Amino acid sequence: MDNTALWKLSYGLYVVGVKKEEGQFGGSIVDAVAQVAGGDKPVLVLASMKNNLTNALIKNAGQFALSVLPANVDPFVVADFGFQSARDVDKWANVPYSLKDGLPVLDCAVSFLRCKVLEFKEFETHSLFICEIVDAQNTGNTAKPLLYADYQENMKAASGEAFKKFKETGKPPAEKKAQWRCPMCGYVYDGDVPFEELPEDWACPLCGVGKDVFEKVE
Ligand SMILES: Cc1cc2nc3c(=O)[nH]c(=O)nc-3n(C[C@H](O)[C@H](O)[C@H](O)COP(=O)(O)O)c2cc1C
Repeated sequence: MDNTALWKLSYGLYVVGVKKEEGQFGGSIVDAVAQVAGGDKPVLVLASMKNNLTNALIKNAGQFALSVLPANVDPFVVADFGFQSARDVDKWANVPYSLKDGLPVLDCAVSFLRCKVLEFKEFETHSLFICEIVDAQNTGNTAKPLLYADYQENMKAASGEAFKKFKETGKPPAEKKAQWRCPMCGYVYDGDVPFEELPEDWACPLCGVGKDVFEKVE
């Protein structure tokens, strides 16, 4: 059997966010997710490894949020949530996130789902959680969702590198500064002062058009 054939199944990569203790959260990267019913009460299944803390936390809390990762996600996010356990680190402290109805959702997500566990079935290594999707929202990030196959082919090595660096420095990668482009001449602002904080009368140093016409580079 060639297990790499399984990498071509077209599912995505998601981050589970689940309550740990008061004000603290756990969670992990998962790919074993499928929506199995639609309609008014959509149903989703999630296979979660029994050894993982996330498994115990989901059983305890009975609910979790799923952040759907964008194709251009920072490879560190996969490392943070997939290569270490929330038993040892606060994974959420390393990434930008917001609370949605009390559960953590990554700021980079393209959408998120809130899931309530209806029941679960135990297998040798995994629990299969059968959940009702009680809320689902798009975030406004229009990037395509990350596919598991693309992670396996194009991102795995970068996630490994990012994790190595994190272990060496003890610090997550610095948040990337947004870049702004002049639509007239193509100049890209890359100064130390955040673009939003430049004075209103700031103008393109090449062609002189105003700050207000600059476009954010996605
Ligand atoms: C690409 C990728 C996909 C994964 N998919 C799953 C999955 O579907 N289910 C699961 O339980 N664990 C999955 N994992 C493993 C967990 O993310 C990993 O074991 C994590 O460190 C568990 O952390 P925890 O102990 O805080 O729960 C995956 C990991 C990676 C890197």
